[in-house]
Amino acid sequence: SPNLSTCHSVSSQIGDTPHKAFHELNCCPALPDSGKPIIKDFQLPTPSAASPIRVRRPAHHVARDKEYLAKYNKAVSIMKRLPPDHPHSWHRQSQIHCIYCNGAYNQAGAASDVPFMIHESWLFFPFHRFYVYFHERILGKLIGDDAFALPYWNYDSPDGMPIPDIYTEGQLNDEKRNARHLPPAPVAIDITPEKVDAGYVEPDAAEQTATNLALLYQHMVSGASKPELFMGCKLRPGEDGACSGMGTIETAPHNSLHLWVGNTDLPEYEDMGTIYAAARDPVFYAHHTNIDRLWALWRRLHGYRGSRPEFDDPLWLDSHFYFYDENADLVRVRVRDAIDMDRLGYAYEEVDLPWLDARP
Ligand code: C2O
Repeated sequence: SPNLSTCHSVSSQIGDTPHKAFHELNCCPALPDSGKPIIKDFQLPTPSAASPIRVRRPAHHVARDKEYLAKYNKAVSIMKRLPPDHPHSWHRQSQIHCIYCNGAYNQAGAASDVPFMIHESWLFFPFHRFYVYFHERILGKLIGDDAFALPYWNYDSPDGMPIPDIYTEGQLNDEKRNARHLPPAPVAIDITPEKVDAGYVEPDAAEQTATNLALLYQHMVSGASKPELFMGCKLRPGEDGACSGMGTIETAPHNSLHLWVGNTDLPEYEDMGTIYAAARDPVFYAHHTNIDRLWALWRRLHGYRGSRPEFDDPLWLDSHFYFYDENADLVRVRVRDAIDMDRLGYAYEEVDLPWLDARP
C-alpha cells in the first residue's frame, strides 16, 4: 500500500518503455493546509431508487443516444473547467494514473524508498476498477445524475474494434492520437513496441479482426486458466515495482491498445502510449471499463462467483489505495472491496462474445 506522505516527483520512464524520450514530472496532489488529509474508509454503495445500478453500454452502441452523449460531454466539460487542483478536475483525475503507475508514492511499511506501483502485478485489475468507479461517480455527480454510467470500448467484438466514434468528437476527442489508427481501422491487439520500431504495416481489417479474436481467446481462456496467469504476479512489499509476470490481459489487449492509440510520432507516444499522460485521453476510461468487464467475464468463465477471491491472501486482499470520491472525500479502498463487481452498483450490458469461438 502507498504511504501518502511520501509523494515525490517521478520519471516518465517506467522499466524498458519503448519511448524516444522521457522527463521528470511531479503529479502529486495539493495537500490541505494541515498537511494531513482526512481519510475515510470506503463504504460499498447501497443501491436504492436514489442510486440505481449504473449500466455500462458498448461505446459503439451509444452513438445514437443523443441525450446520453449530451450528458457525458457536459460532465466532461464541467470537469475540464474545474480549478486544476480540485480533486474532481480533469487534470487531477488524469494525474491519478501518474501517481500510482509512475510511482509517486513510496510503499508503506517497506524500506522507505521503494515506490508503490500497481502495474505488472495482481494490483492491476483492482486498482483500475476503483479508478473508473470513482471517475464515473464523479462525472454523474457533476451533472446531478446518480445513474450515469461510462460506456465501454467493446474491442472484443468486431463492430467495436475501431476507436468508438463518440471519442473522436467534442469533449471526448483527444488530438494526441495516432492518425493512422482513427476509425474505421480495427485495433491491433497484437501490436508490440518491437513491431512499432520495425515500422510494421497492419494487415487488412478482416485479417486483423481474426487475429484479435484468436488472441482474446488465448488471453481469456486457453492461456489464462489460473489466476496467476490472468491477474499477474504477486507483488510483495519491498519489491521494487514489477514482480515480473504481467497477466495475460494486461499484456494484450491492455498494453497493446495503449500503444496503438498513442501518437508514436510524439516523443513519449502521448497521450495513451505513455503512463504519465494516458488518462488525459477520454478514451482511457472506456478502455479501462472494458478491461474491467473482461475481468468480470474471466471470473464467470472460470467459476469465481460472488466475492470468492482469486487469491485468498491477506497481503492482496488488504492492499489499499486512496481515491477522492464523488463527495470529494479521500477514501481508503481495499482490494477485497473490488472483487465482487455486483456490490459496487454497476453492471455491463451483455453482448455476444465472438472470441469464445475463436479457438485457434
Ligand atoms: Cu494503468 Cu491502461 O493503465
